[in-house]
Amino acid sequence: MKPVGPIPAGYTAIDGELAIGGRRVSELVAEAGRTPLFVYSRAHLDARVAALREALPARVGVNYAVKANPHLAVIGHMAALVDGFDIASSGELGLCVAVGIDPARISFAGPGKRDDELEAAIAVGVTLNCESAGEAARALAIGERLGKSPRIAIRVNPSFELKGSGMKMGGGAKPFGVDADQVPALARHVIAAGAEWRGLHIFTGSQALSADAIIEAQGNVLELTAKLVEDIGQPLPKLNMGGGLGIPYFPGDTPVDLARVGAALAERVESLPPVLAETELCIELGRYLVGEAGVYLTRIIDRKVSHGVTYLITDGGLHHQLAASGNFGTVVRRNYPSAIATCYGAEPTEEVNIVGCLCTPLDRLADAAAMPEAHVGDLVVVFCAGAYGASASPAAFLGHGPAAEILV
Ligand SMILES: Cc1ncc(COP(=O)(O)O)c(C=O)c1O
Repeated sequence: MKPVGPIPAGYTAIDGELAIGGRRVSELVAEAGRTPLFVYSRAHLDARVAALREALPARVGVNYAVKANPHLAVIGHMAALVDGFDIASSGELGLCVAVGIDPARISFAGPGKRDDELEAAIAVGVTLNCESAGEAARALAIGERLGKSPRIAIRVNPSFELKGSGMKMGGGAKPFGVDADQVPALARHVIAAGAEWRGLHIFTGSQALSADAIIEAQGNVLELTAKLVEDIGQPLPKLNMGGGLGIPYFPGDTPVDLARVGAALAERVESLPPVLAETELCIELGRYLVGEAGVYLTRIIDRKVSHGVTYLITDGGLHHQLAASGNFGTVVRRNYPSAIATCYGAEPTEEVNIVGCLCTPLDRLADAAAMPEAHVGDLVVVFCAGAYGASASPAAFLGHGPAAEILV
């Protein structure tokens, strides 16, 4: 038997069936017209942002990293909840513009921005988090051609990282950002060249659950920023401090102690050096905002026993849930939180392998999991599916196509 990960708070049942937004999942599937289906919950999004606002000092804004979940309705809902949006491509820019987000609220990071992407961003006034001197030069040239001063911030590659994070984005040689020692000269250059100076972006890692590690990284970010600002010799309009707050996916994972992170940041913010007295501050979060607000529902289409092992075969799989299948940056596969949604909360009575419909042994949703007895037609739910699910999985693989997605 292998345990499944912890089910996020806030999910309940109606008559033994998982319910979201006060509606049974079978109703939501009927409304969507098919499985597999991602369901994203407004109430969960609202609650998460409210908790964050409560914990963080008022001076620190919250940005949403669109890459975590670029579903239009989700971006649209986040527009009223967060302060800014971080995008990683002109495709994500198009989505933000489509839901009416003011481009002045958007910043664009990513190590390989094409000229056409720089042009699209500069034309509408998006802030570029420039990742190299070469990119800054291209942005300045494009701005000149358009007769528009590009809004430029510099993404810093710091010499430290967010310890314990699932994905390290700083510390040593990286394709991301400008090495810290080269930042002051580049900043002075872009300011002198007539760019609208927007500040610094320091993203140190992702998916960290340790409050200590997050607090330490935030302290390092503020310390480095103060030093860089002294060297640049100009006021810093804005600092994007990165984020990195993670969510529990696996057995034994525990939620970030948000109150502790917020209190430590409040203390830091109260004692900032004078060079940062006027600087606007924000953090940038993806999965922490949306990850637990989404579930993936897939229907059991076959049940069989092979060499004594019971398989529940579903109409979903890794083509929508690469991360849950264990194939998105994990070394040892562990079970995401999952359950039988149509007998939710029932006592487990058997051990099953829940798999997808793809013809590959990689397509696993839960291994040796204890579940109540489920049959063809029942719905399986995978939790923590609100981030890096639909858009971070190979939906074209084997031709089954994308899952449906709804916001309720
Ligand atoms: C620059 C940048 N911003 C934001 C994120 C989002 O991270 P998360 O969804 O873990 O908050 C990432 C993730 O890799 C990133 O590289």
